[in-house]
Amino acid sequence: MKNFLTLFALLVMIPISVLFANEDWGRTGHRATGEIAEQHLSKKAKREITKLLNGQSLAIVSTYADEIKSDEKYRSYGPWHYVNYPFGGSYATHPKSERGDLIQGIDKCVSVLKDANSSREDKIFHLKLLVHFVGDLHQPLHVGIAEDRGGNRFQVRWFDKGTNLHRVWDEHLIEEYNMTYTELAENSKSISEKQIEFIQSGTVQDWMAESREICEDVYANTKSGEDLRYNYMYRYMDTVRSQLQKGGVRLAGILNEIFD
Ligand code: ADE
Ligand code: ZN
Ligand code: ZN
Repeated sequence: MKNFLTLFALLVMIPISVLFANEDWGRTGHRATGEIAEQHLSKKAKREITKLLNGQSLAIVSTYADEIKSDEKYRSYGPWHYVNYPFGGSYATHPKSERGDLIQGIDKCVSVLKDANSSREDKIFHLKLLVHFVGDLHQPLHVGIAEDRGGNRFQVRWFDKGTNLHRVWDEHLIEEYNMTYTELAENSKSISEKQIEFIQSGTVQDWMAESREICEDVYANTKSGEDLRYNYMYRYMDTVRSQLQKGGVRLAGILNEIFD
């Protein structure tokens, strides 16, 4: 009986857990944002970050926050990956999640990095998380609604295969686009110094509000059970690429401010 249960667990439960695991912008999206940020770092910030990360790139460390999710020890960081509040409501007036959220998470990372009393180890950990969370902030469904867990319970089809709206935005759109993270970074739209400054202006909550607007547009344009195909890519791929770029440019802005 015990053997049977073990076998059952291996054959059924593990594939199911993989099927339902929700990541975030898949690895490619997070890495593209890290790579774009790297290109916009000041000399000083770049030097400090290289020292902290022992030469690892922002692209490489961008997925760390997802990798630690399966470790019990880091369970408390789960709610930092997203922020939910009702459509028609506002973040400011909605009761804050006591377990933390994306905004509180980013604020915490920035304050640890700015604090001269933080240990090197703490700084490294929160730097890796910051790179990831600024990426998540630009995934429109990570500024979502609690009812369907940011679209994780909004069933749709992707080229006739069953999936959910959250995964379409985390992974399917970018996967189908079929570019590596370096290709995505290299082929992002060229922007002037003025545009960079404009993109970097505002607060984390302003950027959250931009994601929320896109999120609302996505809900207005996606029906439950709909089979999403090339027309969906045509509608949204520019938005995805622009969000990856804004995420990278803004991450660099935050890091330049911290380390300069
Ligand atoms: N779980 C609950 N809400 C979520 C969201 N908006 N994004 C990712 N995971 C979630
Ligand atoms: Zn996600
Ligand atoms: Zn995440």
